[in-house]
Amino acid sequence: MSVLQGAWLAGILALPNDSKKKTLVVALVLSLVCSMLVSVSAVVLRPLQIANATIDRQRNILAAADLLDENTDIADAFSRIEAHVVDLESGEITDDVDPASFDQRRAARDPAMSTALSREQDMAGVGRRARYATVYLVKDGDAVERIILPIHGYGLWSTLYGFIALEPDLNTVVGLKYYEHTETAGLGAEVDNPAWLSQWRGRRVFDASGAPVLRVVKGTSTATGDAALYEVDGLAGATLTSDGVTNMLHFWLGEQGFGPFLENMRKRIGSS
Ligand SMILES: Cc1cc2nc3c(=O)[nH]c(=O)nc-3n(C[C@H](O)[C@H](O)[C@H](O)COP(=O)(O)O)c2cc1C
Repeated sequence: MSVLQGAWLAGILALPNDSKKKTLVVALVLSLVCSMLVSVSAVVLRPLQIANATIDRQRNILAAADLLDENTDIADAFSRIEAHVVDLESGEITDDVDPASFDQRRAARDPAMSTALSREQDMAGVGRRARYATVYLVKDGDAVERIILPIHGYGLWSTLYGFIALEPDLNTVVGLKYYEHTETAGLGAEVDNPAWLSQWRGRRVFDASGAPVLRVVKGTSTATGDAALYEVDGLAGATLTSDGVTNMLHFWLGEQGFGPFLENMRKRIGSS
């Protein structure tokens, strides 16, 4: 601080506390200091936020794949999982896009990276679908043990984001896990209830023609025999969220979603 600035500051501080000039200068200095503190913390904490977001994403993927319990070391368990970016239209894995940096949500907002869906196509209520999506393969050597797919779609109040994991037959469900939504606690937010989620294990997705038919029914499923494999009990008082779950599954496991990829995987797993 120069002698001139020092003298100016001393002059301000010497003013009486009810002076308008002193009040303004103190308020200005205080807001400058605070905004600097906020900016510095945002910059310093950013890498920590990114690391936490990555761990959270990995935790949810492991939960969907039923590979998570309270003792799980997330990084260790995730080391068995390969991330790949899939071109949804061709269903082929592409090396052109890096799974570590690809952001499907941002891509869906970018017209160059996404496709607008017609009303008829858009059963999940997502508006646009990114051209690519990141899929996760749980591997044991060369063998694929589980396939985990990201899904999202509209419920009642919000878009629900989650993962569904399938067995290598690409039909049997291992698990479902949502990690983001703002449905109502006690109603639509019961999509997070472990008791409801436990029903998904062992359910089947596709009928004999290959169409995704697994659905959340209204109330309790009364289906028996094989038909019961295609139904999950509805969320009490939350039929709209329940229907949202059904719709996003039909979308993402169908032709507009991972249908072509699952078809390719079926051939690949079948021939290995
Ligand atoms: C404040 C409030 C919040 C609600 N939140 C949800 C919700 O998150 N998900 C949902 O499906 N229905 C919610 N509902 C109920 C729906 O408006 C609708 O009545 C319900 O989905 C119909 O399901 P039901 O036929 O099983 O009762 C809410 C209703 C109110 C009044």
